[in-house]
Amino acid sequence: MRMEFLSMPILITKFENHKEIKSKLLNDIEMTSKNNLRDDYQSISNTDWHINSKMDRPYYETIKPIILQTLVHLINDLKLADLGVEYNLTQTNYWFQQYEQGDFHTWHDHVSSFYNNVYYVELPENGAKTTFSILNKEYEFDVKEGDILSFPGTIFHCSKPNISQSRKTIISFNTDFNKKG
Ligand SMILES: [Fe+2]
Repeated sequence: MRMEFLSMPILITKFENHKEIKSKLLNDIEMTSKNNLRDDYQSISNTDWHINSKMDRPYYETIKPIILQTLVHLINDLKLADLGVEYNLTQTNYWFQQYEQGDFHTWHDHVSSFYNNVYYVELPENGAKTTFSILNKEYEFDVKEGDILSFPGTIFHCSKPNISQSRKTIISFNTDFNKKG
């Protein structure tokens, strides 16, 4: 057996209107039905993960421009049009997560997703960024509040415990790449 490597593009894009929409988005999230998730794999104080993936949330209209901007970046920056095949790139689901102090999410993937995207709505200075693991080596990228991190759904990643007293809030959404016909 031999092991070869391909480098994988990770995109970090900024949502320029983040400051303008942040408080509305947090209010919209506040009005959304939410649960906590606490087991060996995660401790997440608030999430709407349990809501049917096809159902719209109160914050959908507010995050629609972020989703659309991300789809355009994936198409352009990954040069999908240059593949020479007709395709549909779609957002399949979305959900929010709020990490209070000590909250975490252990290693997992989004294996059925083309690219997974994380929008950092609230990210304290020393708050946990997304950590990736490839062959036991960990990677973190310099992301800030208002950024969208896009990465292939097969990469294992986690959110290490939030050591900040401030809350971390993210909205995550998966995408599908389907060849037409
Ligand atoms: Fe994830």
